[in-house]
Parts: sequence; C-alpha cells; structure tokens
Amino acid sequence: MNILITGATGFIASHTIVELIESGHNIIGIDNLSNSSADVVDKIAKITGKKIDFYPVDICDYSALKSVLKDKKIDCCMHFAGLKAVGESVAKPIEYYENNIGGTITLLKVLKEIGCKNLIFSSSATVYGTPEFVPITEECPKGICTNPYGWTKSMIEQILLDLQNADKSWNVVILRYFNPIGAHPSGVIGENPNGVPNNLMPYITQVASGKREKLFVYGDDYDTPDGTGVRDYIHVVDLAQGHVKALNAINNNCGCEIFNLGTGHGYSVLDVVRTFEKVNGIKIPYEIVARRSGDIAMCYASPDKANSVLGWSAKYSLEDMCRDSWNYQQKN
Ligand code: NAD
Ligand code: UD1
Repeated sequence: MNILITGATGFIASHTIVELIESGHNIIGIDNLSNSSADVVDKIAKITGKKIDFYPVDICDYSALKSVLKDKKIDCCMHFAGLKAVGESVAKPIEYYENNIGGTITLLKVLKEIGCKNLIFSSSATVYGTPEFVPITEECPKGICTNPYGWTKSMIEQILLDLQNADKSWNVVILRYFNPIGAHPSGVIGENPNGVPNNLMPYITQVASGKREKLFVYGDDYDTPDGTGVRDYIHVVDLAQGHVKALNAINNNCGCEIFNLGTGHGYSVLDVVRTFEKVNGIKIPYEIVARRSGDIAMCYASPDKANSVLGWSAKYSLEDMCRDSWNYQQKN
C-alpha cells in the first residue's frame, strides 16, 4: 500500500516506517522537523536499503500539504505528528491545541480532498485519566486528563469518531499506546529527547551515560507492590508492528475501531531500574522524592482486543527494552 506518514522522522513513526518497508509498503513521509531531524530519513535507508519519499511540511499548512499530496495516490494515512511534552503543554496550551487539533483538522480536510479516507491515529493511554480498572480494556471509560497534551488526544479521538459517524466510508483506527521505550536493535534509530527528559527510560539512560547524576523516583507511597508507579512499558518495535497489523482492520473496512497497544504487564519504576542494571551491568543511583503532580499509581493494558482482532501481540521483554535503549544511547 502507499502509506502517508505524518511525523515521519519522529521516534515511533521512524520505527514504524522500518517495519512497513520490511512488509513491502511504499512510504510518503512528512514532518516539520520541530522535534526530529531530517537525517532520520538516511538512517531508515541504512536499515532498510530504501530511501523514503520525504517532505519537510507542517500539517497545519494547508497549501503546502495540498501541493505535496494532490498528485499522490495515498491508500492510508498513519498520523503521528504532534507535540507531546506534558509539562510544556501545561505552559503553552494554545500552541498544543493549535498544533495537535488544528493540524489534525487540516490534515483530514486534505485527505478527504485527495480521496483518502483511511486513517490510523496515534493516541495514548493518557485518555483513560485515572483508569476505573486495570488491566485497562478499550471499554474502560475515558477519564479526566491532567494536562492539555492529554486533552488533545482525547479531543482528536472524538473528532475522528464524529467524522466516521458522519461519513461511513471513512475507516479510522485509534491506537492507544501505553509507554513506548527501547529502540531499533541496530541502534541506528531511537529516542532523542530535547533538554531534560520527562520520561523514565531516557532519564535512566542519561544517568547511565554519566550525563545526569541520579534518577529521581517520584514517590514510593503508591498503592503498588513496591510503592513506586506501575506502567506498561512496550518496545517501540512491537508498537511499530502493531501499526502494520492495524492495516488489516483498515483493509477489512472496520469503520471506527480502538485498540490498546501494550504488553499487558505492569512494571514499577524500581523494576525498570533493577532490570536496566542487571541487563547492562551499570548501577543507576536514585533518590526517592515527592510524587509528580498528575501521576497515577497504576496503568497497564489489556491487549486482548489487539491480540484477537489484529493478530498482534508484543514479543519483546523488559530486558530487551532496557538493552536496546542503552545500545542506542551509547551509539548516539
Ligand atoms: P516525536 O516527537 O518523536 O514525533 C512526533 C513528530 O511529529 C516529530 O518528528 C515532530 O517534528 C513532528 N511534528 C510535530 N508537529 C508537527 C506538525 N505540525 N507538522 C508536521 N510534523 C509535526 O514523538 P513520538 O514519541 O514519536 O510520538 C508520536 C505520536 O505518538 C505523537 O502523536 C505522540 O503524541 C503519540 N504518543 C507518544 C507516546 C510516547 O510515549 N512517545 C505515547 C502515546 C502517544
Ligand atoms: C507520561 C505522560 C503521559 C504520556 C506518557 C508517554 C505525565 C503525567 N504523563 O506518562 O501523558 O502519554 O508519558 O509519553 O507526564 N518517573 C520517575 N522519575 C522520572 C521519570 C518518571 O520516577 O524521572 C516515574 C513516573 O512517576 C511514572 C513512571 O516513572 O511512575 C513512568 O513515567 P513516564 O515515563 O514519564 O511516563 P508516564 O508518567 O506513564
């Protein structure tokens, strides 16, 4: 299939492109390079031997988007582009709503005009807010988000449901990611956060490399086995393969479908620290500090629906995720 990828040079999209190319698909990529670099296109070529058709375009720019896409035959769009820093979204809500929601609406208009009505959207487990139960199934009600970033995901989901409800010829697959970590096993592509990492694994790898002195563990008084927060960490290559499988739903004219992409296993902050230390033979000094505002105790998926409907399940272990994250950090 000819697949349009927005946010193509970003962390998750770049890994997805590798898996799509390896499954025989043809890629048209766009990215405004606000949180990634164009050299990722060469890195993808280094892994796959194929250079994708890439355009440095902003999804908020209707004219630029239209002029790139008007003569292309796109079978499906995978929409990854968006701003994703939780703290920054609290400080800059307008920018987040404009970029994520405004950009999505512009993209949808252009897709409709060029006759592409198949979309796979990068959503997040953050839409469940404080989940009513774990493991979280897709039937778990959406909750109150604690930040504008989370609300952009929740609102875009609603926009997509409304769109598909109004015009049944659209097929929309919403993928709710849990906590993606790891990197391509080659170490060629991975996650490159700007500034001080907000998320756990990039922080740990920067402690391991000596860039940061120690990890601050946000709270050890949660109602979890060791008191630290529990999350469903998923290897980015597993997540990428989930997108390849999601094309099955599109090809079956699914209408609108929502899938959790997680492993189904919850690991605590200290489980991750200990596993990283064991696999890589590096000590991670840490200090327990106060809880981070907006954090929840426990969040892990039931991936049963993706297993049964898409035939997808996560294959990589927490050990693999810790090894591949460190391998990438060392090579970059
Ligand atoms: P990323 O920042 O690495 O990738 C996003 C890409 O989108 C970047 O390359 C950025 O330059 C690009 N972009 C942003 N605004 C754009 C615009 N207006 N026009 C064109 N390109 C634009 O982030 P990621 O971790 O790869 O996340 C990909 C998607 O998955 C995002 O929508 C994110 O919200 C979602 N998601 C990520 C996580 C996670 O933990 N990484 C979890 C849940 C959902
Ligand atoms: C965060 C975002 C969420 C986003 C997700 C994926 C918040 C409140 N939520 O989720 O919206 O979809 O990232 O990008 O930011 N931790 C530490 N020390 C650190 C960093 C994290 O102890 O330096 C702990 C956290 O308290 C949490 C766990 O590690 O228990 C995972 O944190 P993180 O990687 O930031 O992901 P989430 O909070 O799950």
